[in-house]
Amino acid sequence: MARRRIIAGNWKMNMTPTEAKALVETLKPLVNNPDVDVVYCVPAIDIVPVVEAVKGTNVEVGAENFYIEDKGAFTGEISAPMLLDAGVKYVIIGHSERREYFGETDEFLNKKVLKAFASGLTPILCCGESLELRERNAYKEWIGLQIKADLEGVTADQVKSMVIAYEPIWAIGTGKTATADQAQEVCALIRNTIAEMYDTDTAEAVRIQYGGSMNAGNAAELLSKPDIDGGLIGGAALKPDFGQIVNA
Ligand code: PGA
Repeated sequence: MARRRIIAGNWKMNMTPTEAKALVETLKPLVNNPDVDVVYCVPAIDIVPVVEAVKGTNVEVGAENFYIEDKGAFTGEISAPMLLDAGVKYVIIGHSERREYFGETDEFLNKKVLKAFASGLTPILCCGESLELRERNAYKEWIGLQIKADLEGVTADQVKSMVIAYEPIWAIGTGKTATADQAQEVCALIRNTIAEMYDTDTAEAVRIQYGGSMNAGNAAELLSKPDIDGGLIGGAALKPDFGQIVNA
């Protein structure tokens, strides 16, 4: 069974609403590929204008974050029902920047994954090791533990519909991409972990992205690997290069 490719931009804390609308217009003719799922994960304040700007295109909109309660006294937070009402389909969960700067633990991320599914959002669940873990050759065990903890209580059907992104922290925003073989090794390991936790059907269905300094120059080689079904793109998602990645 062929898995459909999914290329997602993670805009991070970039792009004012005005800049966001201009970027969508710039990218419009470049990302128009019916064979690929294209997603823009954008800052909360850009969601409404970007949903409007991508109308009539192949692009879906994702959020970079949300909170696990539906409503109430949680100043500054945004809920799943708010995202859905605004037209959001995907949400990034467990990005290393949220884990590191905002103290999000696997226990909390598991709650977010369960809440996303319960609400009807598709999680893009990120995992990845630090340079220190890579150098001590402890990365495989680490990734396995992250996946198991973050997916606790998630059903096989839910896993089949989700996206997992392997993002080695040492490759994010550093210009230091994992080699295609390094990325493939871990994406295969994630798929094997899913097969062990669930079954081979589920493992064959789940889409696994690579992320970390993916760009127009290295995308084709990374995407040629059997277990890499797409990319989660930071810096290069803010430029016309994103179109080249979609079409790689
Ligand atoms: P990068 O970011 O492409 O700028 O390395 C990827 C990410 O953090 O998702």
